[in-house]
Amino acid sequence: MHTEEEIIHVIGGELSRETPPSQTYYLTTPIYYINDKPHIGHAYTTILGDVLARYYRLIGYDVAYATGTDENSQKNVSAAIAAGREYDVALYLDEMSDLWKQTWKEMNITNTDFIRTTEERHLVAVLKFWTAVEKTGDIYKGTYSGWYCGGCEAFILESELENGENCAIHKKRVEKIEEENYFFRLTKYRTALLEYITLHPEFIEPDSRKHEIINYIKDHMVDMSISRQSATAGIPVPTDPKHRIYVWFDALINYLSVIGYGTDEKKFAHYWPVNMHLVGKDIIKFHCGLWPAMLMSAGLQLPKKVFAHGFFTIEGIKMSKSLGNAIDPLEVGKRFGNDVLRYFLLREITCGDDGDFSMKRLADRYQTDLGNELGNLVQRVMGMAEKYCGGRVPVIPLEQTQVRWKEYHEAIQALRFSSALDCVWEVVRNANKFIDAQKPWAIYNENPSAVILMMGHLLELLRQIAWLLVPIMPQSADKIFDQLGLTVSEELQRPYYEAIVWGGLKEGTHLKKGESMFPRLS
Ligand code: MSP
Repeated sequence: MHTEEEIIHVIGGELSRETPPSQTYYLTTPIYYINDKPHIGHAYTTILGDVLARYYRLIGYDVAYATGTDENSQKNVSAAIAAGREYDVALYLDEMSDLWKQTWKEMNITNTDFIRTTEERHLVAVLKFWTAVEKTGDIYKGTYSGWYCGGCEAFILESELENGENCAIHKKRVEKIEEENYFFRLTKYRTALLEYITLHPEFIEPDSRKHEIINYIKDHMVDMSISRQSATAGIPVPTDPKHRIYVWFDALINYLSVIGYGTDEKKFAHYWPVNMHLVGKDIIKFHCGLWPAMLMSAGLQLPKKVFAHGFFTIEGIKMSKSLGNAIDPLEVGKRFGNDVLRYFLLREITCGDDGDFSMKRLADRYQTDLGNELGNLVQRVMGMAEKYCGGRVPVIPLEQTQVRWKEYHEAIQALRFSSALDCVWEVVRNANKFIDAQKPWAIYNENPSAVILMMGHLLELLRQIAWLLVPIMPQSADKIFDQLGLTVSEELQRPYYEAIVWGGLKEGTHLKKGESMFPRLS
């Protein structure tokens, strides 16, 4: 076990215990298109964000965690039409965004806000932002002639096309567009962007993505068309309403409007600049090229970090609508529990790399890591404590088991969730091994006091495990606290650094042995 000083040292100046409680941590997910219901890929980003949100809240930060829906997209309109709702697009959007909102609720996601880009607060922000950029002289009128991919909602360079006609991501033909548009002087910010990236090595993560972005900024970035005349969806350009604002220009501004830009300047100043934009690797160019340039133009500070995670396939195959292989996160949650889905995604996919989602491997991990290891440990310790200690917490011995808190904190902060879980599972496995080796049941008759001491140790270890699990598997952590006779809300309200110190379990507390946490699958 590390001392308090060590923990403070680990967490570094920025996160020290003296950190005033008003220190903020603002993080975001992309706002999702709602032409369909959420799939496991969307859930992945949102779960990553939730782990971070819970973690930073736990260590004392004032966390704002924003997600939402990107509604001014032509593809949402097409989806409404396909659903026979062409006269009711607004209602369709209401229903769909509600579905997304509810999904995150059911999945136990602790977002602090949910922004829809059709909301008034967003329109106000976009108007303010457009005006600021226009004032800087960064918007001009020109003719756009080129390719557009409806799937990406993006303008595509001829050099980026596959076989000269297809979008490389969607494998679909792009459309030729020629119309008078408003342009954003993106190239004006080329040098400033490159400088920012060099001066802030932590801005783009993982590092492997940096080269892709630098290459794009240096060699491929051109001024961007930021309005469409042919679009039926979109926010009208304030000074020229027959144009509609390009959906990405509008969507990125959500990161400002959700914390009050244009509507609640005090709140905005409190949370901006954002600490972390979590995105998939598909949209990193928008977040590391266009977005910081837009912010520079509007005179706002730049994000501290954009973290791009990889994409995953389903049983080795790309997830796609036409293949119908998208996985509904709610169904996995219903069958196994939300925590199990979280555990699997964080354990199995190295955050930043591509990965694969397999139901078979999920079921395997459920049975081994969760059932045979964590679940079994809780079950047997609680069972023995009932038997040998009369269902009460005995004295907690001073001798401690080493918990790798230092590595755990470092890993979570670096989004190396699998390493963080290694730290937890090391404790779980060692505890199981200890029980197997010591065989308390075989020595109880001869030496009851040694067994009671062991129980005190193991029960406190369960409490430590629960604390390690709070950000990652919050419902499981609650269940362990509950079985230990702790009131979950009270335990979680304790100052973190006090709560994780060895010996927090009080002698004499009534234990509440519960059901098996990860029962065998039928
Ligand atoms: N609306 C834009 C984002 C605007 S943000 C200002 C958009 N939306 S989206 O609905 O297409 O969601 C994209 C995000 O979903 C990806 O960046 C990624 O976070 C997540 N994923 C979608 N498919 C995924 C996988 N197959 N694997 C992992 N994540 C995936 O783009």
